[in-house]
Amino acid sequence: MTAPALAWNDSFATGVPEIDEQHMILVHTLNEASVRLANDASLESLERITQDLLSYALYHFETEEQLMHTYGYPEDSSADAAQHLEQHRAFSAKVVQVREGIKQGTPVAPEDLLGFLNGWLVNHILNTDKKLGAFIAARRGTA
Ligand SMILES: [Fe+2]
Repeated sequence: MTAPALAWNDSFATGVPEIDEQHMILVHTLNEASVRLANDASLESLERITQDLLSYALYHFETEEQLMHTYGYPEDSSADAAQHLEQHRAFSAKVVQVREGIKQGTPVAPEDLLGFLNGWLVNHILNTDKKLGAFIAARRGTA
């Protein structure tokens, strides 16, 4: 009933060590959530899992957005930067919406939640974070 575990692989690497480190923590957190929800999909469990996930995601987005600012990403690539921020905002809004449902006693199905989270993370890393990573690595001269 739960989504298959997400495995880290080298295609996720962005070339920016601090971003990759946080992505590995996110992958680990999602896998842990999958195991926990398989054993306990109560409202309390969903509440705690989405709370922990949202706070780590917000912290992570802040890290990336700070890096964008530091390296002048919005100035250099304004459309990509705007789209990147928009994806972060949409993710946060979706998780907040899921949490509203949990609080009102109409929780999302765990497999739908995990499917969304895993799908979003993989798509965002591969298509959006890697673009940012390549830009930062080029600026740092580590590309
Ligand atoms: Fe991102």
